[in-house]
Amino acid sequence: MNNIKRLLIPSLIAMAASVTAAQAEKLTLYCSAQEDWCQLMARSFEDATGIDVNMTRKSSGETFAQIKAESSNPKGDVWWGGTGDPHLQAAEEDLTEPYVTPMRGELHDWAISQATSAGDKTIGIYSGALGYGYNTDLLAANNLPEPACWKDLLKPEYKGHVQMANPNSSGTAYTTLATMVQLFGEDEGFDFMKGLHSNVNQYTKSGSAPIKAAGRGENTIGIVFMHDAVKQAVAGFPVKVVAPCEGTGYEIGSMSIIKGARNMDEAKKFYDWALSTDAQNLALEVNAFQVSSNTGAEASPSAPDMSSIKLIDYDFKTYGSSAERKRLLQKWDEEVSTLPH
Ligand code: G6P
Repeated sequence: MNNIKRLLIPSLIAMAASVTAAQAEKLTLYCSAQEDWCQLMARSFEDATGIDVNMTRKSSGETFAQIKAESSNPKGDVWWGGTGDPHLQAAEEDLTEPYVTPMRGELHDWAISQATSAGDKTIGIYSGALGYGYNTDLLAANNLPEPACWKDLLKPEYKGHVQMANPNSSGTAYTTLATMVQLFGEDEGFDFMKGLHSNVNQYTKSGSAPIKAAGRGENTIGIVFMHDAVKQAVAGFPVKVVAPCEGTGYEIGSMSIIKGARNMDEAKKFYDWALSTDAQNLALEVNAFQVSSNTGAEASPSAPDMSSIKLIDYDFKTYGSSAERKRLLQKWDEEVSTLPH
């Protein structure tokens, strides 16, 4: 008996320890970047660390709403990707956890200022400028002029040819709304959104859907981040990318740890890893042409050249604040989305 105990007890202890370790080594990742990039990040982190990743891709506004709805019983650990505004709103509403990463010294100033403005509850992982792209074959087939400015998109001949996402679900579309308000002033910005509404054929859930549809020949013009349009062109689709003549807004794609994360150690490991050059260089494998936040990460020659694009001084503090995001979305719901097409 004693012999059996001597043999059994250590192996039971070892088994219990390995079960505990196996239980702890997992991560629930909420991802708001492109689906293929989300998949690659999840699988590469698993390969690098042996931690199992359970990843779901949802748009930025949708993920924000989910984290808020789950806040009394959080299910996600890290929210990676998506536009910065809803990450800032989550920080303000105390839905995310402060964390000062040892990787800070390797990052661009714009990534750090995102963290500083949110009490270290979020950080910048990439950046990209808003614009639009169009299917050159469809434009020609419909005898349409080549658009070059935001205001061109209001021309009656583009009726039914423009697609964008819904700003409630999509961070891309919220960036569009906030950009118009900053570029033209609130009244003129909303007039622009109302005029655009007459030409919009559909508001999609995800931000990049309109340019994927243009690539497939199912839509003519898609309002998206310029890098999403470049991705379609690089894939061989007849898509031309436009940096609008009036100037444009941009995103600081962000990452946050969810408050009350069940796998907090793994969340921090992912966070640090995601800011490394190795992790950020993965972007190029899936033609994600954003500017990376790590100063040592590689840039693709196909990526939009941010220094040649007329960028507005996007006010992230204001447009990422809870009150302003709620107010603008409600106003868009009431004054724009309800208008007849
Ligand atoms: C695309 C872009 C990202 C952006 C994201 C926002 O994936 O490549 O740069 O952050 O859209 O997604 P959403 O669906 O919220 O507009």
